[in-house]
Amino acid sequence: MRPIVERARLHQPEIKQLLQRAETTPAVEHRLFSPEIAAYLMYWKKILNPNSKPYTTIYPGMGPDVATALLTQNTTNFHGLDRHPVLAERLQYYKNRWDDLGVIEKVYCDEPRRSTESIDQWQEEFEADLQYHEENGYYGATRLPVWSLERLLLLELQKLDVTKDSIVINQLAGKTTVSFTWAYPNEASQPRIITFHTADISTLASFQRGLPRADCIMQKAHMDEGIVKRSAILAEARDHLLLPNGRLLITPSSNESSRATQKIDRKHFLDMLRLDFNLVRPPLSLQKLLTDEDGKLRDPYGWYFICAQKRAQL
Ligand SMILES: C[S@@+](CC[C@H](N)C(=O)[O-])C[C@H]1O[C@@H](n2cnc3c(N)ncnc32)[C@H](O)[C@@H]1O
Repeated sequence: MRPIVERARLHQPEIKQLLQRAETTPAVEHRLFSPEIAAYLMYWKKILNPNSKPYTTIYPGMGPDVATALLTQNTTNFHGLDRHPVLAERLQYYKNRWDDLGVIEKVYCDEPRRSTESIDQWQEEFEADLQYHEENGYYGATRLPVWSLERLLLLELQKLDVTKDSIVINQLAGKTTVSFTWAYPNEASQPRIITFHTADISTLASFQRGLPRADCIMQKAHMDEGIVKRSAILAEARDHLLLPNGRLLITPSSNESSRATQKIDRKHFLDMLRLDFNLVRPPLSLQKLLTDEDGKLRDPYGWYFICAQKRAQL
C-alpha cells in the first residue's frame, strides 16, 4: 500500500471533474447525498483505496451508514458497531416491503409515533430527516432513533442502486449479516458483506469481540468526542485492529472550529496516545467548496474527515 501523502492538493479542474462525476452517481440522483458531499467522499477513495482492492472497514457508531464507507473506501467487508442492534427479522420485514420503504403509512415496524401526530405529519417528519441527511451526510443524532435502523439501512442500499435480489440477510454466530453486490461508479460490481456487532464502543471489551484486522477504522458523526479521545480504542487499533499502513478516518468533534479540532486530534494521535502515524488533511482547494460566506467550514461535524495512517512497522 502506498503511503498517504502529507497534504494532498486538488486543483480546480479536478474538483470540477469530481463534482461532475458525483452528480451522476445514484447516491446523488436519489438524493442520499448532495453532489458536494458525494464528491468529497469520492475524493477520499483516491487516497484510501485507489485500486479498489478488497477492503475491510471497522465502523464504530455506524448506524445505517453504508454509503460513506462505500464511497470513501469501496469497502467490501464491513464491521459495523453500534449500541442499537440491527435485527435480521426486521431487515427481512422491510426487505419484503422494498417498494414502499419510504411510505410510512404502508410500512412501519415498532417506530414510535407520537399520539398527537397524523400520518401526514409523520411522513413529513420522515422526509425532513431524509433531506437533512442529503444536506449534511448523516441523520441528526436525536432524529436517528425515531426511525428503524433497518428501514434506513435498506433505504440507503436502495438509493445506492443495490438491487433487492442481490441482498441476502443472515444470522451468523449470533450476528446479523447483510450481503449485497454493488459497483463503485464506473467500476465493476463486487460482492460485499456487512457484519453488525451490537456494542457500546466506549468499553474496550465490546469493541474487541469478533473483529478482524482492518484496512480502515472509521468514525463519523459520533455525537460526542468519538474514538479520537478514547485511548483504549486507539491503543487497540494500533496494536491489533489496524493492519500495517491501515488508516483511521475520523470526523472531528462538533463544538470547535475545524482548525482547532485538527490540532487537538493531532495532539492526541501524536502526544497523548503516542501513535506514530502520518497525517493527511483534505486539500484546501476542496475545503473552499465547503465554506460559508465568512470563510468558516460549514458544519465540519459529520463529514469533514481527518485521516491517520499507521506506520508499516511500529
Ligand atoms: C449521529 S449517528 C451517526 C451514524 C453514522 N456514523 C453516520 O454518519 O451516518 C451516531 C451513531 O453512533 C451510535 N453511538 C453513539 N454512541 C455510541 C456508543 N457509545 N456505542 C455504540 N454506538 C454509539 C449511535 O447509536 C448512532 O447510530
